[in-house]
Amino acid sequence: MKNIDSNTHVRGESIYVDDIPPRQGTLYACVFDSKVAHGHIEALDVSKAEAHPDVVKVVTYKDIPGINEIGGIIKDEPLLAEKEVHFQGMPIAMVLATSEHSAHEAVKRIEATIKAHHPIVDPREAHAKGELIIPSRTFRLGDSENAWDECAYIVEGSAESAGQEHLYLETQGAYAYPTENGSIRISSSTQGPTQVQRTVGAVLGLPMHKIEVDVTRLGGGFGGKEDQASAWATFVALGVYLTGKPVKYILDRMEDMRMTGKRNPYVSDFKIGLSNDYKIIAYQAEYFQNAGAAADLSPAIMERTLFHSTNSYFVPNVTVQAHSCRTNIPPNTAFRGFGGPQAMFVIEAAITKAAEEIGVPASVIQKANLLKEKDKFPYGQPAGGNEAVDSWVRAEEKYDIKALRAEIDAFNQSNQLYKKGLAFMPICFGISFTKTDMNQARALIHIYSDGSIGISTGAVEMGQGVNTKMVQVAAHYLGVDPSRIKIETTNTTRVANTSPSAASATADLNGKATGIACNALVKRLTGAARKKLGLSEQAVITIKDEFIHVDGQQTELGWEALVQFAFLERIALTENGHYATPTIHFDKEKEKGHPFAYHVYGTAITCVTVDCVRGRYEFDYVKIAHDFGSSMNKIVDLGQTEGGLVQGIGWMTMEELMYNKEGRLLTNALSTYKIPDIYAVPKEIEVDFLESDKENMAIFKSKAVGEPPLMYGIGAYFAIRDAVKAFNPQAEPPFSAPFTPEKVLMGLYDGKANNVESVPVGAVKAKG
Ligand code: MTE
Ligand code: HPA
Ligand code: MOS
Repeated sequence: MKNIDSNTHVRGESIYVDDIPPRQGTLYACVFDSKVAHGHIEALDVSKAEAHPDVVKVVTYKDIPGINEIGGIIKDEPLLAEKEVHFQGMPIAMVLATSEHSAHEAVKRIEATIKAHHPIVDPREAHAKGELIIPSRTFRLGDSENAWDECAYIVEGSAESAGQEHLYLETQGAYAYPTENGSIRISSSTQGPTQVQRTVGAVLGLPMHKIEVDVTRLGGGFGGKEDQASAWATFVALGVYLTGKPVKYILDRMEDMRMTGKRNPYVSDFKIGLSNDYKIIAYQAEYFQNAGAAADLSPAIMERTLFHSTNSYFVPNVTVQAHSCRTNIPPNTAFRGFGGPQAMFVIEAAITKAAEEIGVPASVIQKANLLKEKDKFPYGQPAGGNEAVDSWVRAEEKYDIKALRAEIDAFNQSNQLYKKGLAFMPICFGISFTKTDMNQARALIHIYSDGSIGISTGAVEMGQGVNTKMVQVAAHYLGVDPSRIKIETTNTTRVANTSPSAASATADLNGKATGIACNALVKRLTGAARKKLGLSEQAVITIKDEFIHVDGQQTELGWEALVQFAFLERIALTENGHYATPTIHFDKEKEKGHPFAYHVYGTAITCVTVDCVRGRYEFDYVKIAHDFGSSMNKIVDLGQTEGGLVQGIGWMTMEELMYNKEGRLLTNALSTYKIPDIYAVPKEIEVDFLESDKENMAIFKSKAVGEPPLMYGIGAYFAIRDAVKAFNPQAEPPFSAPFTPEKVLMGLYDGKANNVESVPVGAVKAKG
């Protein structure tokens, strides 16, 4: 089935927050934010802004009727700064004006006198100074300290990965207007409508039932709108509360890049020990997560880092410790993979460094240590199957790894100035919110008397195709044509207490809830059919292809006639389904449990060609064997795989997020922050659907696909390193992602400073 949004997307008819026609009297908000990363507000003068003819009000923390607090996990984040500022971009005041332009103009007239303190941007410095968001956590398996004696090889090192800007095409924003009796209706570009509702309620001092949050779809979220959409929705709601007028705020790109958090950068130390036959005996890692100025989702992200510390490998002795470090940059947040990719980069760096020291290809170590069924993760859950090995073997065989290697070796032997590199990247990603209680969802289904169907769930469509999947689920269970089904907006008044659409679990959770509601409706409808057709209790009645079937035989009774009959019989044609993932649990005291419904696995083979004069590179191909379970929509899932991969390659190669020592974002626009475009995409992406038919708590046995493929992008880093090593075997480039062309160039000539002339310059010229 095609994505149901294709038609409106292509015609430009899909509705985003900024497409909602503004109501008469709408005011426009704009935030005045701190230019100082850490400091004390000594004076704030908003009088010149207030004097602007189009300004209706300038709002500060003093105007907040409820609590000045938007922190989701920890209450450590004010909506508007009071006395202290903790990052450049921290909101201090909000202007409400009759036009967007005037709101922006008035903001420029606000003056703040801020006494600057020393800002911290380095997580190691924060850690050394005891600036931690939560107490550090450690996962242990076996006894790594006493295992080093058994190791034939021990390698230590460090690895760092930078942050990543979400760069959703639709920037953050919200639009709100007053309804009766002090209630407020908000359209928000959020992955978490309930989180918005809760936050707005707390800040305005209103009960949640007075706040209605509605979401049609997002122009991308990627985790950036799981919690961080709440602030902007709260600003407009506060504006509505204070003025009684509709209020709109859509951030422009630079506001969004400056004021919102991104993927957490990490710096980490590792130590790995191997036996003579390349088995990993012990692994230790210490992660310093750059949380930014407030907790946001960083504690949960840090937890997932620990869960994914050993990627798809079995390691018998593991000690991994993570610190969530408070710094003076915008609070970082969820980003596709949620701390998992950061951990996986570190163990891949450890394996690569060990391989280089031992003198074997990294793939030899990787393959020797893949998880097998029943092998335990450090947190106690066993691997549910052999997909780690299966996907690796499938990739090797299907793509003929011997031929690929021979081709690369031949190329490298006959080319001095271009070198190819290859890397394997196996992935393993746990599906479920790591916070067990978040794994629940609801669906509300109406069958209208004409036979058409409306479905509301907690799922937010952000481009990942979840609405299409919900149509597929309902059409299957109800036995009707998909064209009968409309997916309604995601709305807190229709479906309450929802978890955000995140953790790749949206289709699983909301699909199961939809299935449960459909089954209840089918039970009532088949009961009605029994009566209408005068059938006995023994007759097996099903609905298929829009007709009622009795004992497998199609009858004359169609869907519309049955619905009409049931309605006249006064049978309820509405149902609410509730689903909570069974089995999962986790004990934070022991750091052991069974937190995930299942794991998703796969293996990617990445090949790159590095231009050894310029340091530039192009990806020849990425060939993937991915564990989709039994995919319920191959087109959508392929799109997720390709999109995730390219986003991962961007993170690993070109998206260089930089803050200076004063905590100012230097890469604050698309002129300085580079994301992959069509030219950066691998020339060839091949995806093999590794199908399995297991019952694994997923919807229709189709495994979640949203986040896992991003981690194939990590292979890009190691493929480039392999090519650099082919050119310069002495090179020891630090494990520092992204591997930008500048860093590649440094690596190519690492230790070669005195014999650069040995590169035949004439050949360079000939190549232009
Ligand atoms: N795909 C598109 N097109 N846009 C997005 O914003 N977000 C990703 C992934 N794929 C995203 C996307 C992230 S971070 C997650 S957690 C999942 O989709 C969420 O949707 P799912 O749970 O339905 O997979
Ligand atoms: N993934 C994504 N978002 C989350 C999670 C998670 O595991 N836990 C809480 N929010
Ligand atoms: Mo995705 S990072 O769980 O929104």
